[in-house]
Amino acid sequence: MVGFFLWVLQVLSVALCIQEESDFQWTQTDRGSFYYGKFPPTEYVNEKGIQYYNDLINVLLENRVVPVITLYHWDLPQNLQEKFCGWQNVSMVTYFNDYANLCFEKFGDRVKHWITFNSPWSVAVEGFETGEHAPGFKLSGTGAYKAAHNMIKAHSKVWHTYNKNWRNKHKGMVGISLTTEWGEPVDISNQKDIEAAERFVQFNFGWFANPLYNGDYPQIMKEYIGQKSAQQGLGVSRLPTFTSQEKSYIKGTCDFLGVGHFTTRYITNRNFPATQGPSYFTDRDLTELVDPKWPEPESKWLYSVPWGFRRLLNFVKTHYGNPMVFVTENGMSEKMHCAQLCDEWRIQYLKGYTNEMLKAMKDGVNVQGYTAWSLMDKFEWDEGFSERFGLYYVEFRNKNKPRYPKASVQFYKKLISANGFPNVREVEKWHRISTESCSTINQLLAADPLVSHMEMVTEIVVPTVCTLCILISAILLMILLRRQS
Ligand SMILES: *[C@@H]1O[C@H](CO)[C@@H](O)[C@H](O)[C@H]1NC(C)=O
Repeated sequence: MVGFFLWVLQVLSVALCIQEESDFQWTQTDRGSFYYGKFPPTEYVNEKGIQYYNDLINVLLENRVVPVITLYHWDLPQNLQEKFCGWQNVSMVTYFNDYANLCFEKFGDRVKHWITFNSPWSVAVEGFETGEHAPGFKLSGTGAYKAAHNMIKAHSKVWHTYNKNWRNKHKGMVGISLTTEWGEPVDISNQKDIEAAERFVQFNFGWFANPLYNGDYPQIMKEYIGQKSAQQGLGVSRLPTFTSQEKSYIKGTCDFLGVGHFTTRYITNRNFPATQGPSYFTDRDLTELVDPKWPEPESKWLYSVPWGFRRLLNFVKTHYGNPMVFVTENGMSEKMHCAQLCDEWRIQYLKGYTNEMLKAMKDGVNVQGYTAWSLMDKFEWDEGFSERFGLYYVEFRNKNKPRYPKASVQFYKKLISANGFPNVREVEKWHRISTESCSTINQLLAADPLVSHMEMVTEIVVPTVCTLCILISAILLMILLRRQS
């Protein structure tokens, strides 16, 4: 009987699904792009979403926090992926522009800093080459180049939209944020290693920055990918090309350059035979190494190598005409099973990297802003919640998600309020106070499993026992009544 009932329920819900599906369809909007939803479409904009961001922006401004909005941090609507292959399809340029224009219209009165894409390299390579990230495609040697091509076009279109429609009114800026490791030649007396290290950065940072600042892909990318493609018997290069109109349309479409940076690799030349098949990684003809003398990292990939930061910033200055730079991501993660608030290594990292940034500024690099990555522990893509970047520890298992300051909070607070390093003794003092304060909170947190256990008792055990009691008394009462009658 129960089985039959469940079966009926299942059939019902399947029918409901089908009905909902047929209610939804694609419709062209008056903005020129497509809308997926109920037909006929009554509105194309999710007003609740707009309200959410309006509230967020307003609260930030009330608290004197300048909002810098990233329009795309790897979050494509699923429908655009399924229907059109997402960034493999040039039509994304129009949809993205549509969406960006709406954001400018709704939030541009209060938001003056716009980042179109955050780390498009990750979207291209991890989304379409290795498939580690969404949408998980493994289109080795082709997918990443195509995705990047469309994102570059989308970025420049959005910049032109802002420039034409909104700049006069809102007086803001539109840029992009590119994240890269620095590549240092293994042997600085070996010309092949020097060139390989340059290729490493060009295939990552230059891939996006060069079209935007200099009007085309880096020469070295065109050469290497072109050559490998020919050796693989392809008529044209796997790296798409821009027409001359596109080149001049794309060139100069950054009001500032966002730079994300975490770590460095040593690079040596290595020739991969073209017969191995197309691949972004072998197109570069190089191998990445780490120095065994570097301190053991907290997360397996993130070695602290502060001097690489200064070199990267100088690379940016010389290759792209000393643009205005905002450091958008720089920080350190950890992998821990239990809470560890005394993050001495993060303090060392922030100290080392901000100090090298300061040296770069003295070299003449035009750094105008710095953001530590990140404020709180958060969802770290394919690593889930296991890799923690936050200055604040978040207890994800607790439904209230309580936050606890790590030692680095105290240190970073001092650093930004002093806007630099006043003197060595002062910095040592911050450091000491920071690490002292964390141990008490650490102890509190260690006692926390008991608290969550107590919560479970009150939320589950107590109501269950009460219900059972009432049930048993009802049965007893029934038996008693029967006996009497
Ligand atoms: C690209 O997107 C358009 C809609 O703008 C669609 O008609 C076309 O089929 C898509 N191409 C692929 C390969 O999905």
